[in-house]
Amino acid sequence: MKDILRKAIERELPQINNYLDKLLPSENAPPEIVHKAMRYSVFSGGKRLRPLMTIESFRWAGGSGDEIYPFACAIEIIHAYSLIHDDLPAMDDDDFRRNKPTCHKVFGEAIAILAGDALHALAFEILARSGKVEIVEDVAKAIGTYGLVGGQVADIEFEGCDVSEGDVRFIHERKTGALFTAAVRVGAIFADADENALNAITNYAKNVGLAFQITDDLLDLKGNLKKKGSNIYSDLKLDKATYPRAVGKERAFKIAEKLVQDAKKVLPDDRDNELLNAIADFVLERTY
Ligand code: IPE
Ligand code: IPE
Ligand code: MG
Ligand code: MG
Ligand code: MG
Repeated sequence: MKDILRKAIERELPQINNYLDKLLPSENAPPEIVHKAMRYSVFSGGKRLRPLMTIESFRWAGGSGDEIYPFACAIEIIHAYSLIHDDLPAMDDDDFRRNKPTCHKVFGEAIAILAGDALHALAFEILARSGKVEIVEDVAKAIGTYGLVGGQVADIEFEGCDVSEGDVRFIHERKTGALFTAAVRVGAIFADADENALNAITNYAKNVGLAFQITDDLLDLKGNLKKKGSNIYSDLKLDKATYPRAVGKERAFKIAEKLVQDAKKVLPDDRDNELLNAIADFVLERTY
């Protein structure tokens, strides 16, 4: 990991976690059980890559100050909801995430479903406070049936099917890429970025998000449970449509490399792209 990214993580993670702590309902407030489940999943050791990208995109586009943090957290809260539901028995049926039992393993399926629903609602309550209707609309579109949910539907429908590279790209751009794109767009829109900057950072995130899901597929096959923290070989168990299955491991990694190169290329030279470039590079190096 590049130094600039390590320092950004050291600086921003505690801040992101503080804001998340303030934004989430207390465990002692009724209904306690669902608040506990929400907190369990949000504070279980995620990398916080998406909120970091929102914050950096905001600064990259000329924003300053701390006002972006709640909206960056809203993106992480949506991510947490999507993972709780992704792990459910009806979906990927995974027992571990981030080296801990999954939400439904601890709280039961019904509460896990409701914790996901509540996180989803909370995220929009927070985003609405931006006062920018474009932000709310943009995120809603990114995670609906043309984005994350559409990708998850395709992910399930393609289980066990022969898939082309195009099919897997379709799935991955939606189930994972769309939230990466929304993450940077929230930051850039909140900073009043002009159209060129917004388009550039959107393209950057599309490429990074797709590369991120390709390396997720590859990590599932590496079989290092301790590092990955979630069930390994989960994709094989359900015969998921993944890049390695569609094109082989080597070609999958080559495609991810090319996407990261392209991501870095679309950023205009006259801006400070160093941290965004380091995030893109991290996607290839990551082991978790
Ligand atoms: C996991 O995302 C789900 C995917 C979209 C591949 P992350 O690897 O960012 O999850 P955490 O939050 O860091 O655990
Ligand atoms: C997760 O993809 C995508 C969403 C949660 C929207 P995966 O199913 O590959 O993620 P992991 O491997 O469980 O983290
Ligand atoms: Mg899944
Ligand atoms: Mg999964
Ligand atoms: Mg996976």
